[in-house]
Amino acid sequence: MVVIAVAGGSGGVGKTIVEKLLESKFDVVILSRTARQENSSQKVQNLQINYDDIPSMAHEFERHKIHTIISAIGLVSDETSQSQLNLIEAGEKSVSTKRFIPSEYSFIQTPNLLSIDPSIQWWLDAAERLKASGLEYTRVIPGFFMDYWGMPYVQTHLQPFTFGIDIASGTAAIPGNGDNVICMTYTYDLATYLVKALDLDNWPEFSIIVGDEVTYNQVLELAEEFTGKKFKVTYDTLEQITAGNVTVPPQPEGVDSSSDEIKEMTALVSRLTVNNVFQLPKDRLNAQFPEVKPVTFREFLQNAWGRSRV
Ligand SMILES: NC(=O)c1ccc[n+]([C@@H]2O[C@H](COP(=O)([O-])OP(=O)(O)OC[C@H]3O[C@@H](n4cnc5c(N)ncnc54)[C@H](OP(=O)(O)O)[C@@H]3O)[C@@H](O)[C@H]2O)c1
Repeated sequence: MVVIAVAGGSGGVGKTIVEKLLESKFDVVILSRTARQENSSQKVQNLQINYDDIPSMAHEFERHKIHTIISAIGLVSDETSQSQLNLIEAGEKSVSTKRFIPSEYSFIQTPNLLSIDPSIQWWLDAAERLKASGLEYTRVIPGFFMDYWGMPYVQTHLQPFTFGIDIASGTAAIPGNGDNVICMTYTYDLATYLVKALDLDNWPEFSIIVGDEVTYNQVLELAEEFTGKKFKVTYDTLEQITAGNVTVPPQPEGVDSSSDEIKEMTALVSRLTVNNVFQLPKDRLNAQFPEVKPVTFREFLQNAWGRSRV
């Protein structure tokens, strides 16, 4: 049986991928910095690893015959980035390990975007390291996760956060004119495609997956339709966004950040949105798996808000 390891498999994206892997033919190993015992399935094992000890990680990967490593580490700092680089190096050293998916799950990160988002360097470093390794890799790109507009009513493991439109309070703080195209995918659809991609003989550099394409103006229209409410709407100008002087929509309960951090995150995502980074190329993995029908944004929103929960 082919063994797939998921680093950070207890986090938001990682847990979703693990759940889909458990429905597949693969055996699963969750890599974590801490020891955990709670899994009920025989198909999944928890493996505590020390990201600073590359030889011991490589040894563990060989011992568990790990063929593919999927990284879902939350990349939020130089430290987390270094963990992923060490994970790649250990995968390269392990004779059983042939393939690696780095933690990206976002838009296509390129050097020309560094001035908008300096943290892109962490993703670029991983891609460079993988290119220099003997491992086959693919960078998985689903755009924005739809989940944020369905919280708290949809099944999701992502941390709560409101971007642009807060449906619960009927408030929209839209970056730019609201017509930028945003490719969106539900996390469980991302995981479905990702598990299918494990069977492909060859991997492209970028595996683009798109559930739907919408603009904030369309999101607003659908949100008003399903809630039956007229929203309070503001549009931030490009000048406001460039200056970081953005309107922050109301945040849901459970957001674990200070108001400065929330504003910074809002400004960052606004800059990215108006620069059209979420408008993804048309060459997509979807075409290889026509049997998968990802949820559209309309279906997703109707499911979450259609019974007018507000
Ligand atoms: N496109 C989108 O809308 C979107 C939204 C959210 C996330 N993402 C992307 O998805 C990826 C995963 O994000 P997430 O929100 O799922 O992450 P997360 O839940 O914040 O973290 C995932 C896991 O990372 C591990 N981790 C944390 N610090 C670490 C360290 N120093 N070294 C090694 N492992 C560490 C932890 O696992 P252990 O404690 O078990 O070691 C944690 O459970 C990121 O690349 C993120 O940018 C994209």
